[in-house]
Amino acid sequence: MQSYSDLLIEHFYNPRNVGVIENPDGYGKVGSPVCGDLMEVYVRVEDGHLADLKFRTFGCAAAIASASMLSEMAKGQPLQVAAQLTDEEVACALGGLPEIKMHCSNLAATALRAALEDYYDRHPEARRGE
Ligand code: FES
Repeated sequence: MQSYSDLLIEHFYNPRNVGVIENPDGYGKVGSPVCGDLMEVYVRVEDGHLADLKFRTFGCAAAIASASMLSEMAKGQPLQVAAQLTDEEVACALGGLPEIKMHCSNLAATALRAALEDYYDRHPEARRGE
């Protein structure tokens, strides 16, 4: 059975961007249909870019490491780029995940998309690129 990479374990022990953004520009909360765990993502948007991102999760080690890695991959990116990050890309950046844990990285990517959707709902002009 495939085990966790050293990089994944490092992100689990030292997760980046954990916390809450007060009055965020977007907020997403999703639960995994596989395990029932939860992920919350808060975003701050400036000039069409993801200026800041924080997350909280009641998930496993893979979920924590995935959200940490995703936060580093997404921060500073244009919103369209951040919204297209996938669970596979996050898992690959972490050196791979056992197949049985892929839903954990999907939790992070889905919560980020939900937060960006919330931002677009509040700012429809941004969705149109205005
Ligand atoms: Fe639930 Fe990993 S087992 S997020």
